[in-house]
Amino acid sequence: MPLSIREFEALARDRLPADVYDFVAGGAEDEVTLRANESAFGRLRLLPRVLRGPATRELGVSLLGMDATMPVLIAPTAFHRLAHPEGEKLTARAAAAAGAIMIVSMGSTVAIEDIADAGGQSLALWFQLYVQPDWAVTEALVRRAERAGCRALVVTVDLTVFGRRERDHRNGFHDLPEGLHCENLRGIAGERGVRQIESTPELSWEHIDRLRATTALPIVLKGLMHPLDAVMAVGHGVSGVIVSNHGGRQLDTAMATIDALPDVAEAVNGRIPVLLDGGVRRGTDVVKALALGASAVAVGRPVIWGLAVAGAAGVTQVLELLRDETDRALGLCGCACLHEVTRDLVQAAPC
Ligand code: FNR
Repeated sequence: MPLSIREFEALARDRLPADVYDFVAGGAEDEVTLRANESAFGRLRLLPRVLRGPATRELGVSLLGMDATMPVLIAPTAFHRLAHPEGEKLTARAAAAAGAIMIVSMGSTVAIEDIADAGGQSLALWFQLYVQPDWAVTEALVRRAERAGCRALVVTVDLTVFGRRERDHRNGFHDLPEGLHCENLRGIAGERGVRQIESTPELSWEHIDRLRATTALPIVLKGLMHPLDAVMAVGHGVSGVIVSNHGGRQLDTAMATIDALPDVAEAVNGRIPVLLDGGVRRGTDVVKALALGASAVAVGRPVIWGLAVAGAAGVTQVLELLRDETDRALGLCGCACLHEVTRDLVQAAPC
């Protein structure tokens, strides 16, 4: 088994068809933001405390009233069957085994009911939603997620226009291959909706209010970067936000998420949990995000690399690597639990 997420990516690259690898790995336009998400973590340095000696660390976290054994969630990524024939079923099994929360993409290639079955009772599933041009479709998706037992609705707000991913254009990778579909839309949307992801270009706070009136599920907004939007989110009664730039796949040259996090966390001021995704590849990245105000992080591509390399066992290994690395980094920073990870443990590297 690979010893790091970077090794997982290298192996996945060897195994996946080149156009699928590019679809997963790629970002928008010049991929400035894609690279920045990872490199910004590299510009931060940890400043550890010593002589506080925690013999063991507690990595558990409670989010929206749900307990997870680690502060790393599975970010919603579409089309897992591109990486493995059993797709999201295996991801769910691995998440359940790790005690991690899985955010299922609206564009999953296995239906949400089957994902819930595969994960079993113990798995906390959150459902990611793109608000659809047709509200009846949006509402039907929400009901489907509720019936399947999903425990939160993650509304992605950074895809009102599709980012231009030039690798996909070069490779002619526009449609799902024959036999793969967005299964959650089957029976809900027309043929087009089952073949490709749609999202309303008119998305506004009114949609968020309407969703709150539609469902009792807690709503988490994914794709916020600006502190003023985070303040608006609190005002509109959402239960959490995920600082995200869609893994650099939408607005190129957007800030790295770890650089945007401190101002968002300050604006939210503990009123709701702030999560982050984008470029998390090591346990030290997790600790840096916690220090800068995140309650937890999520990982997108690493999960797909794990799936491509070794199915459920690969995803489990990716999660366990992150758990193990986070545990070690916490210990070396003198922290016994996540609450002890304070702002002073991170500094910008001198130029
Ligand atoms: C995504 N992402 C995404 N986000 C979302 O809200 N719904 C989706 O269906 C998808 N699909 C998707 C597919 C692929 C192949 C990738 C790489 C990403 C974005 C995802 O949730 C997350 O924001 C980023 O992947 C986080 O960055 P890292 O961890 O991949 O660097």
